[in-house]
Amino acid sequence: MKDPLKNRFLFFLTLLTIVVVLLSVTIPKSPYYVYADQEPAAVVFAAARQFNFVLSKQDIDLEKPGMGEEIELPAGEVVEFRVTSIDVTHGFAIYDDTGTLVAQTQAMPGYVNRLRWKFDKPGTYNILCLEFCGLAHANMRASFTVK
Ligand code: CUA
Repeated sequence: MKDPLKNRFLFFLTLLTIVVVLLSVTIPKSPYYVYADQEPAAVVFAAARQFNFVLSKQDIDLEKPGMGEEIELPAGEVVEFRVTSIDVTHGFAIYDDTGTLVAQTQAMPGYVNRLRWKFDKPGTYNILCLEFCGLAHANMRASFTVK
């Protein structure tokens, strides 16, 4: 005789097993772990604020962030962005010169997100804010070059 409760239990047990197996395979391959075992060739400090980004090769004093500096990064090497925010939560999205999103993280006040990436293609890259942060959100952009 069929027991519908037992069938239902087996169905959910099978479903749970599939989900756990898929998560344990895919989570370690998520982009958050990219280049975690390599020393970056360059470190860029980035502080977002309403409504621009300050970029510097030196650690940024969040009390007096200034205007930052021109950033040039080596092609084909791992670089690290240390991204934070001076005021509210912003996005930190890197686009190549074709307008394709390459890598991104969030710029959060009181926290530093480390984003490691390897830019194989030389050129100009743009940083845009991907988090609605106020009236001039759409004007938030910066750029750097890869040579
Ligand atoms: Cu900063 Cu949107």
